[in-house]
Amino acid sequence: MTTATSFPLTFELTPSTATRAAAERDEILADPGFGKHFTDHMVEITWTVDDGWHGAQVKPYGPLRLDPAASVLHYAQEIFEGLKAYRHADESIWSFRPQANAARMQRSARRLALPQLSEEDFVESLRQLVAVDGSWTPSAPETSLYLRPFMIATEAFLGVRAAHRVGYYVIASPAGAYFTSGVKPVSIWLSTNYSRAGKGGTGAAKTGGNYAASLLPQAEAYEHGCAQVLFLDSVEGAYIEELGGMNIVLAYKDGTLVTPESDSILEGITRDSILQLAEDRGHRVERRRVALDEWRDGVDSGDITEVFACGTAAVVTPIGLLKGEGVSIGSADAVAGELTMSLRQELTDIQYGRAEDRHGWMTRLDR
Ligand code: PLP
Ligand code: COI
Repeated sequence: MTTATSFPLTFELTPSTATRAAAERDEILADPGFGKHFTDHMVEITWTVDDGWHGAQVKPYGPLRLDPAASVLHYAQEIFEGLKAYRHADESIWSFRPQANAARMQRSARRLALPQLSEEDFVESLRQLVAVDGSWTPSAPETSLYLRPFMIATEAFLGVRAAHRVGYYVIASPAGAYFTSGVKPVSIWLSTNYSRAGKGGTGAAKTGGNYAASLLPQAEAYEHGCAQVLFLDSVEGAYIEELGGMNIVLAYKDGTLVTPESDSILEGITRDSILQLAEDRGHRVERRRVALDEWRDGVDSGDITEVFACGTAAVVTPIGLLKGEGVSIGSADAVAGELTMSLRQELTDIQYGRAEDRHGWMTRLDR
């Protein structure tokens, strides 16, 4: 779907009259958790089939007014993104490869028959929010301001077709670690009864329905003491795909890193970056189908030495054990792998401005 947008958008600001006092904000920033607290403002941009993108604004954070017939509520025409703003030692605020999130949101939009927002307007929407709410970016190690752009079909119409009215929003949430257990190996539940996405479906798009499909198996994971659920391909049930909210990478003892290639998984920006850093170090990287049997056999023979999950929220998290009906690979007592942890360190050093940004991945948001 194309857009009749006038480029670039200009944003109007309506300041909140209920901004939290510095003391209240500091209390939240001292222990933000993940996804629980939200800043004082939000971005809204409207799209209509006749006028394209317009009405860009930064306004007080608050409930949306939606018609009960809004098609997002019935047919789930929705997409989102997730990226972080990092505070550097000199107080400046940066995001990591936001252009890649913009491009992925355009791909998601295409699959969900939503209008595409330009990369420039996407990045500008983040800058606009940080301009008013940048003080919500925490500075303690491993913390950030999680930015959540999303797009929903707001047209009040119950016929099943792409909506003629759409809203794009950005909200922001100060964030600490996603896994409360800290950076230590997690156990993962293998879902053999449920798929996250099917052939030709929406698996490669960042759309709410994929996450809704993961909630029941994710609940099973929790019941079995696991932090996340791993999905297999839905055709043969033999190849590993990804976790409910992150990608997966296997490391061989010769240094080769292997990650599933599939058109039903979300192409993670963290994964792409980690694999680039590994290639820079001379590691071989393979993006190909990975059978569950390969993982089992590799761990049994000692050829696979480390497995980790990666994503914006999870950063890089070692996986100790994979368990499921009749499946147990690895150990819950595993220690975090050296390669996993050094790649994690290198990535976060770049993100927090402690290491040279040799790939030009960082974009300053606070000016
Ligand atoms: N896979 C899924 C299903 C996700 O939700 C995410 C997180 O956004 C990822 C992978 C990793 O993507 P990224 O590294 O771009 O955050
Ligand atoms: C992210 O890492 O940004 C995600 O979207 C994963 C999850 C929090 C939904």
